[in-house]
Amino acid sequence: MKKFRWTMILSIIMLLISCGNGGEKPAAGGEAPAGGEAKKEIKIGVALYKFDDTFISSVKDAINEISDEKSKETGEKITINAVDGQGQQATQNDQVDTFITQGYDVIAVNMVDRTAASVIIQKAQAAGIPVVFFNREPVAEDMAKWDQLYYVGAKAEESGTIQGEVAADYFKANPDADKNKDGKIQYVILEGEPGHQDALLRTEYSIKALEAAGFQVDKLASDTALWQRANGQEKMAAWISAFGDKIELVLANNDDMALGAIEALKAAGYLSDGKFIPVIGVDATAPAKDSLKAGLLYGTVLNDARGQGKGIFDIAYALAKKENPAEKVQGITDGKYLWIPYQKVTKENVDKF
Ligand code: BGC
Ligand code: CA
Repeated sequence: MKKFRWTMILSIIMLLISCGNGGEKPAAGGEAPAGGEAKKEIKIGVALYKFDDTFISSVKDAINEISDEKSKETGEKITINAVDGQGQQATQNDQVDTFITQGYDVIAVNMVDRTAASVIIQKAQAAGIPVVFFNREPVAEDMAKWDQLYYVGAKAEESGTIQGEVAADYFKANPDADKNKDGKIQYVILEGEPGHQDALLRTEYSIKALEAAGFQVDKLASDTALWQRANGQEKMAAWISAFGDKIELVLANNDDMALGAIEALKAAGYLSDGKFIPVIGVDATAPAKDSLKAGLLYGTVLNDARGQGKGIFDIAYALAKKENPAEKVQGITDGKYLWIPYQKVTKENVDKF
């Protein structure tokens, strides 16, 4: 009787063990799992339009950090290979080709030229490798070409509107900022790269928000400074020579250009001793937050690099595991878009960021 009971228990244990094994997914490439623990390496290629861009490099850092966190949590080997397109679409196309031939699971692309996405889409689709675009939004027609395309970004209109609201708050609180008392705000605006959705829409919506707040505006000058600090400084220096004290507001499509403008203003004796001019940017990069705390930059708008990096990684990770991102990642709309909200940043709340 006793012996029988032991045999029963033993065979139940055996049965349970074999069930456990049977349920295990086969390892990739048909390799036997070593000690039952080997997991498939996940390879995510990240093609950036260029490394030398303050905001983009912070998105890259965020993707790496979040990947490391995931890897620690799950014990998986996750490779993030970020490559520098150096502002050349042809270079970026080659880099994507290499990811494809090397069998990457997913490719994340920050287009050099956002209107040129169809070339990359075609190749990725032929190879069956999903693509997560970010920061430079492909046109809707391209995004509709395949159901394995995603986009992570932020609504450019929203950043423009917030920027305009920060400016409106300043002019409401400081009636003397209308220096020539003509009832209009004389402004200059430093624009990002022509054709970039963030440049076009920030320019348009910042002014719309000022007008919606009841202000009349008078544009003294606008020009592209290609998102870059040095160009921002150069353009601003020229405008100071041309318009001097007539300038009542400086808007910039991003913080790097705003910081360039601040250099030019400081060099011309502005921003101290009662010669303050509000300069407002977008991004809330680390140097911009320092400038804000130092009382130079008046305001900015958080372009959430960490939030975007997390969105890009989470979608790519789900795709690499053959899961449906729309079920795994909160907030995906139309089955393929993930919009990360902007937030107003001024001296009052900068410590929160
Ligand atoms: C950022 C800029 C950046 C650009 C690059 C924008 O969203 O605000 O700082 O240079 O993206 O594409
Ligand atoms: Ca005025």
